[in-house]
Amino acid sequence: MYSFNNKDIILITGASSGIGKAIALELNSLGTNVIATGRNFFELQKSKDLSSNKDLFQIEHRDIVEDIDENLNWINSIVEKYGALKSMILCAGIDQTLPIQTLNYSRSKLIFDTNFFANEILMRAFSKKKNNQGNGSSIICISSIMASLTSPAIANYSASKAALESLVRTAALEFATNGIRVNAIAAGHIITHLLTNNETLPANFIDNLKSKYPLGLGEPIDIANAVAFLISDNAKWITGTTLTIDGGVSVRF
Ligand SMILES: NC(=O)c1ccc[n+]([C@@H]2O[C@H](COP(=O)([O-])OP(=O)(O)OC[C@H]3O[C@@H](n4cnc5c(N)ncnc54)[C@H](OP(=O)(O)O)[C@@H]3O)[C@@H](O)[C@H]2O)c1
Repeated sequence: MYSFNNKDIILITGASSGIGKAIALELNSLGTNVIATGRNFFELQKSKDLSSNKDLFQIEHRDIVEDIDENLNWINSIVEKYGALKSMILCAGIDQTLPIQTLNYSRSKLIFDTNFFANEILMRAFSKKKNNQGNGSSIICISSIMASLTSPAIANYSASKAALESLVRTAALEFATNGIRVNAIAAGHIITHLLTNNETLPANFIDNLKSKYPLGLGEPIDIANAVAFLISDNAKWITGTTLTIDGGVSVRF
């Protein structure tokens, strides 16, 4: 269906868990050379153990917020080690369920550093001529339907994803002249650690959610399948857009 090969080098952030892990495994199974990145080396190794083409599954350990500007040098060193990237999938992200009454600058800064600023610098690094493969290269950011919808206590999460989608539109224009496409996926609720390990969510949160989704909650592979399409040449005229994948929940009145 898609024409990928082992020269298609794809870097994925947040590949140690959930959606990023599914993306890394799916793209690896389609024959691309994936560089799976995250903070948890043990979990990255578990992702690799599940991969169908282990020779085409590389692991790189990185905390993308520890020194955000240093992400530039990190990507330079990745490219020196593996070669220029065809695509970068920016999936690493954190959630935060806190009412505005409880917010302070350091709490707000952490979520923006992770969901927005780190991605901005990573995009800058990718756009450097020697770091990407030119025509056919692309960036995908994993956003959320909460960028445009919202609910109480997710001010920072919603705002950080809205900022990310705005960045995608600007980057699409700036990078188009070098043949780089930039898109986002606004995902609905997907069962991952972000939901199941979130102590700030009420106990009945997931059951309540399920009842709202016309097609039920999503699985990580639902997002991975869309990523495969968006980085393929079948999507060669798609840039600057946010593709909503949410089982129909956002069209409900
Ligand atoms: N699950 C959903 O319902 C849903 C819906 C819409 C959008 N999303 C978005 O999808 C993305 C993935 O979420 P998920 O559900 O798969 O969550 P997850 O299972 O908690 O995975 C989050 C990933 O982000 C990585 N990460 C977080 N902070 C990092 C940092 N400072 N440096 C490097 N990596 C970092 C984690 O790596 P380590 O564990 O190795 O630190 C992990 O691999 C997020 O951007 C999230 O906002 C999720």
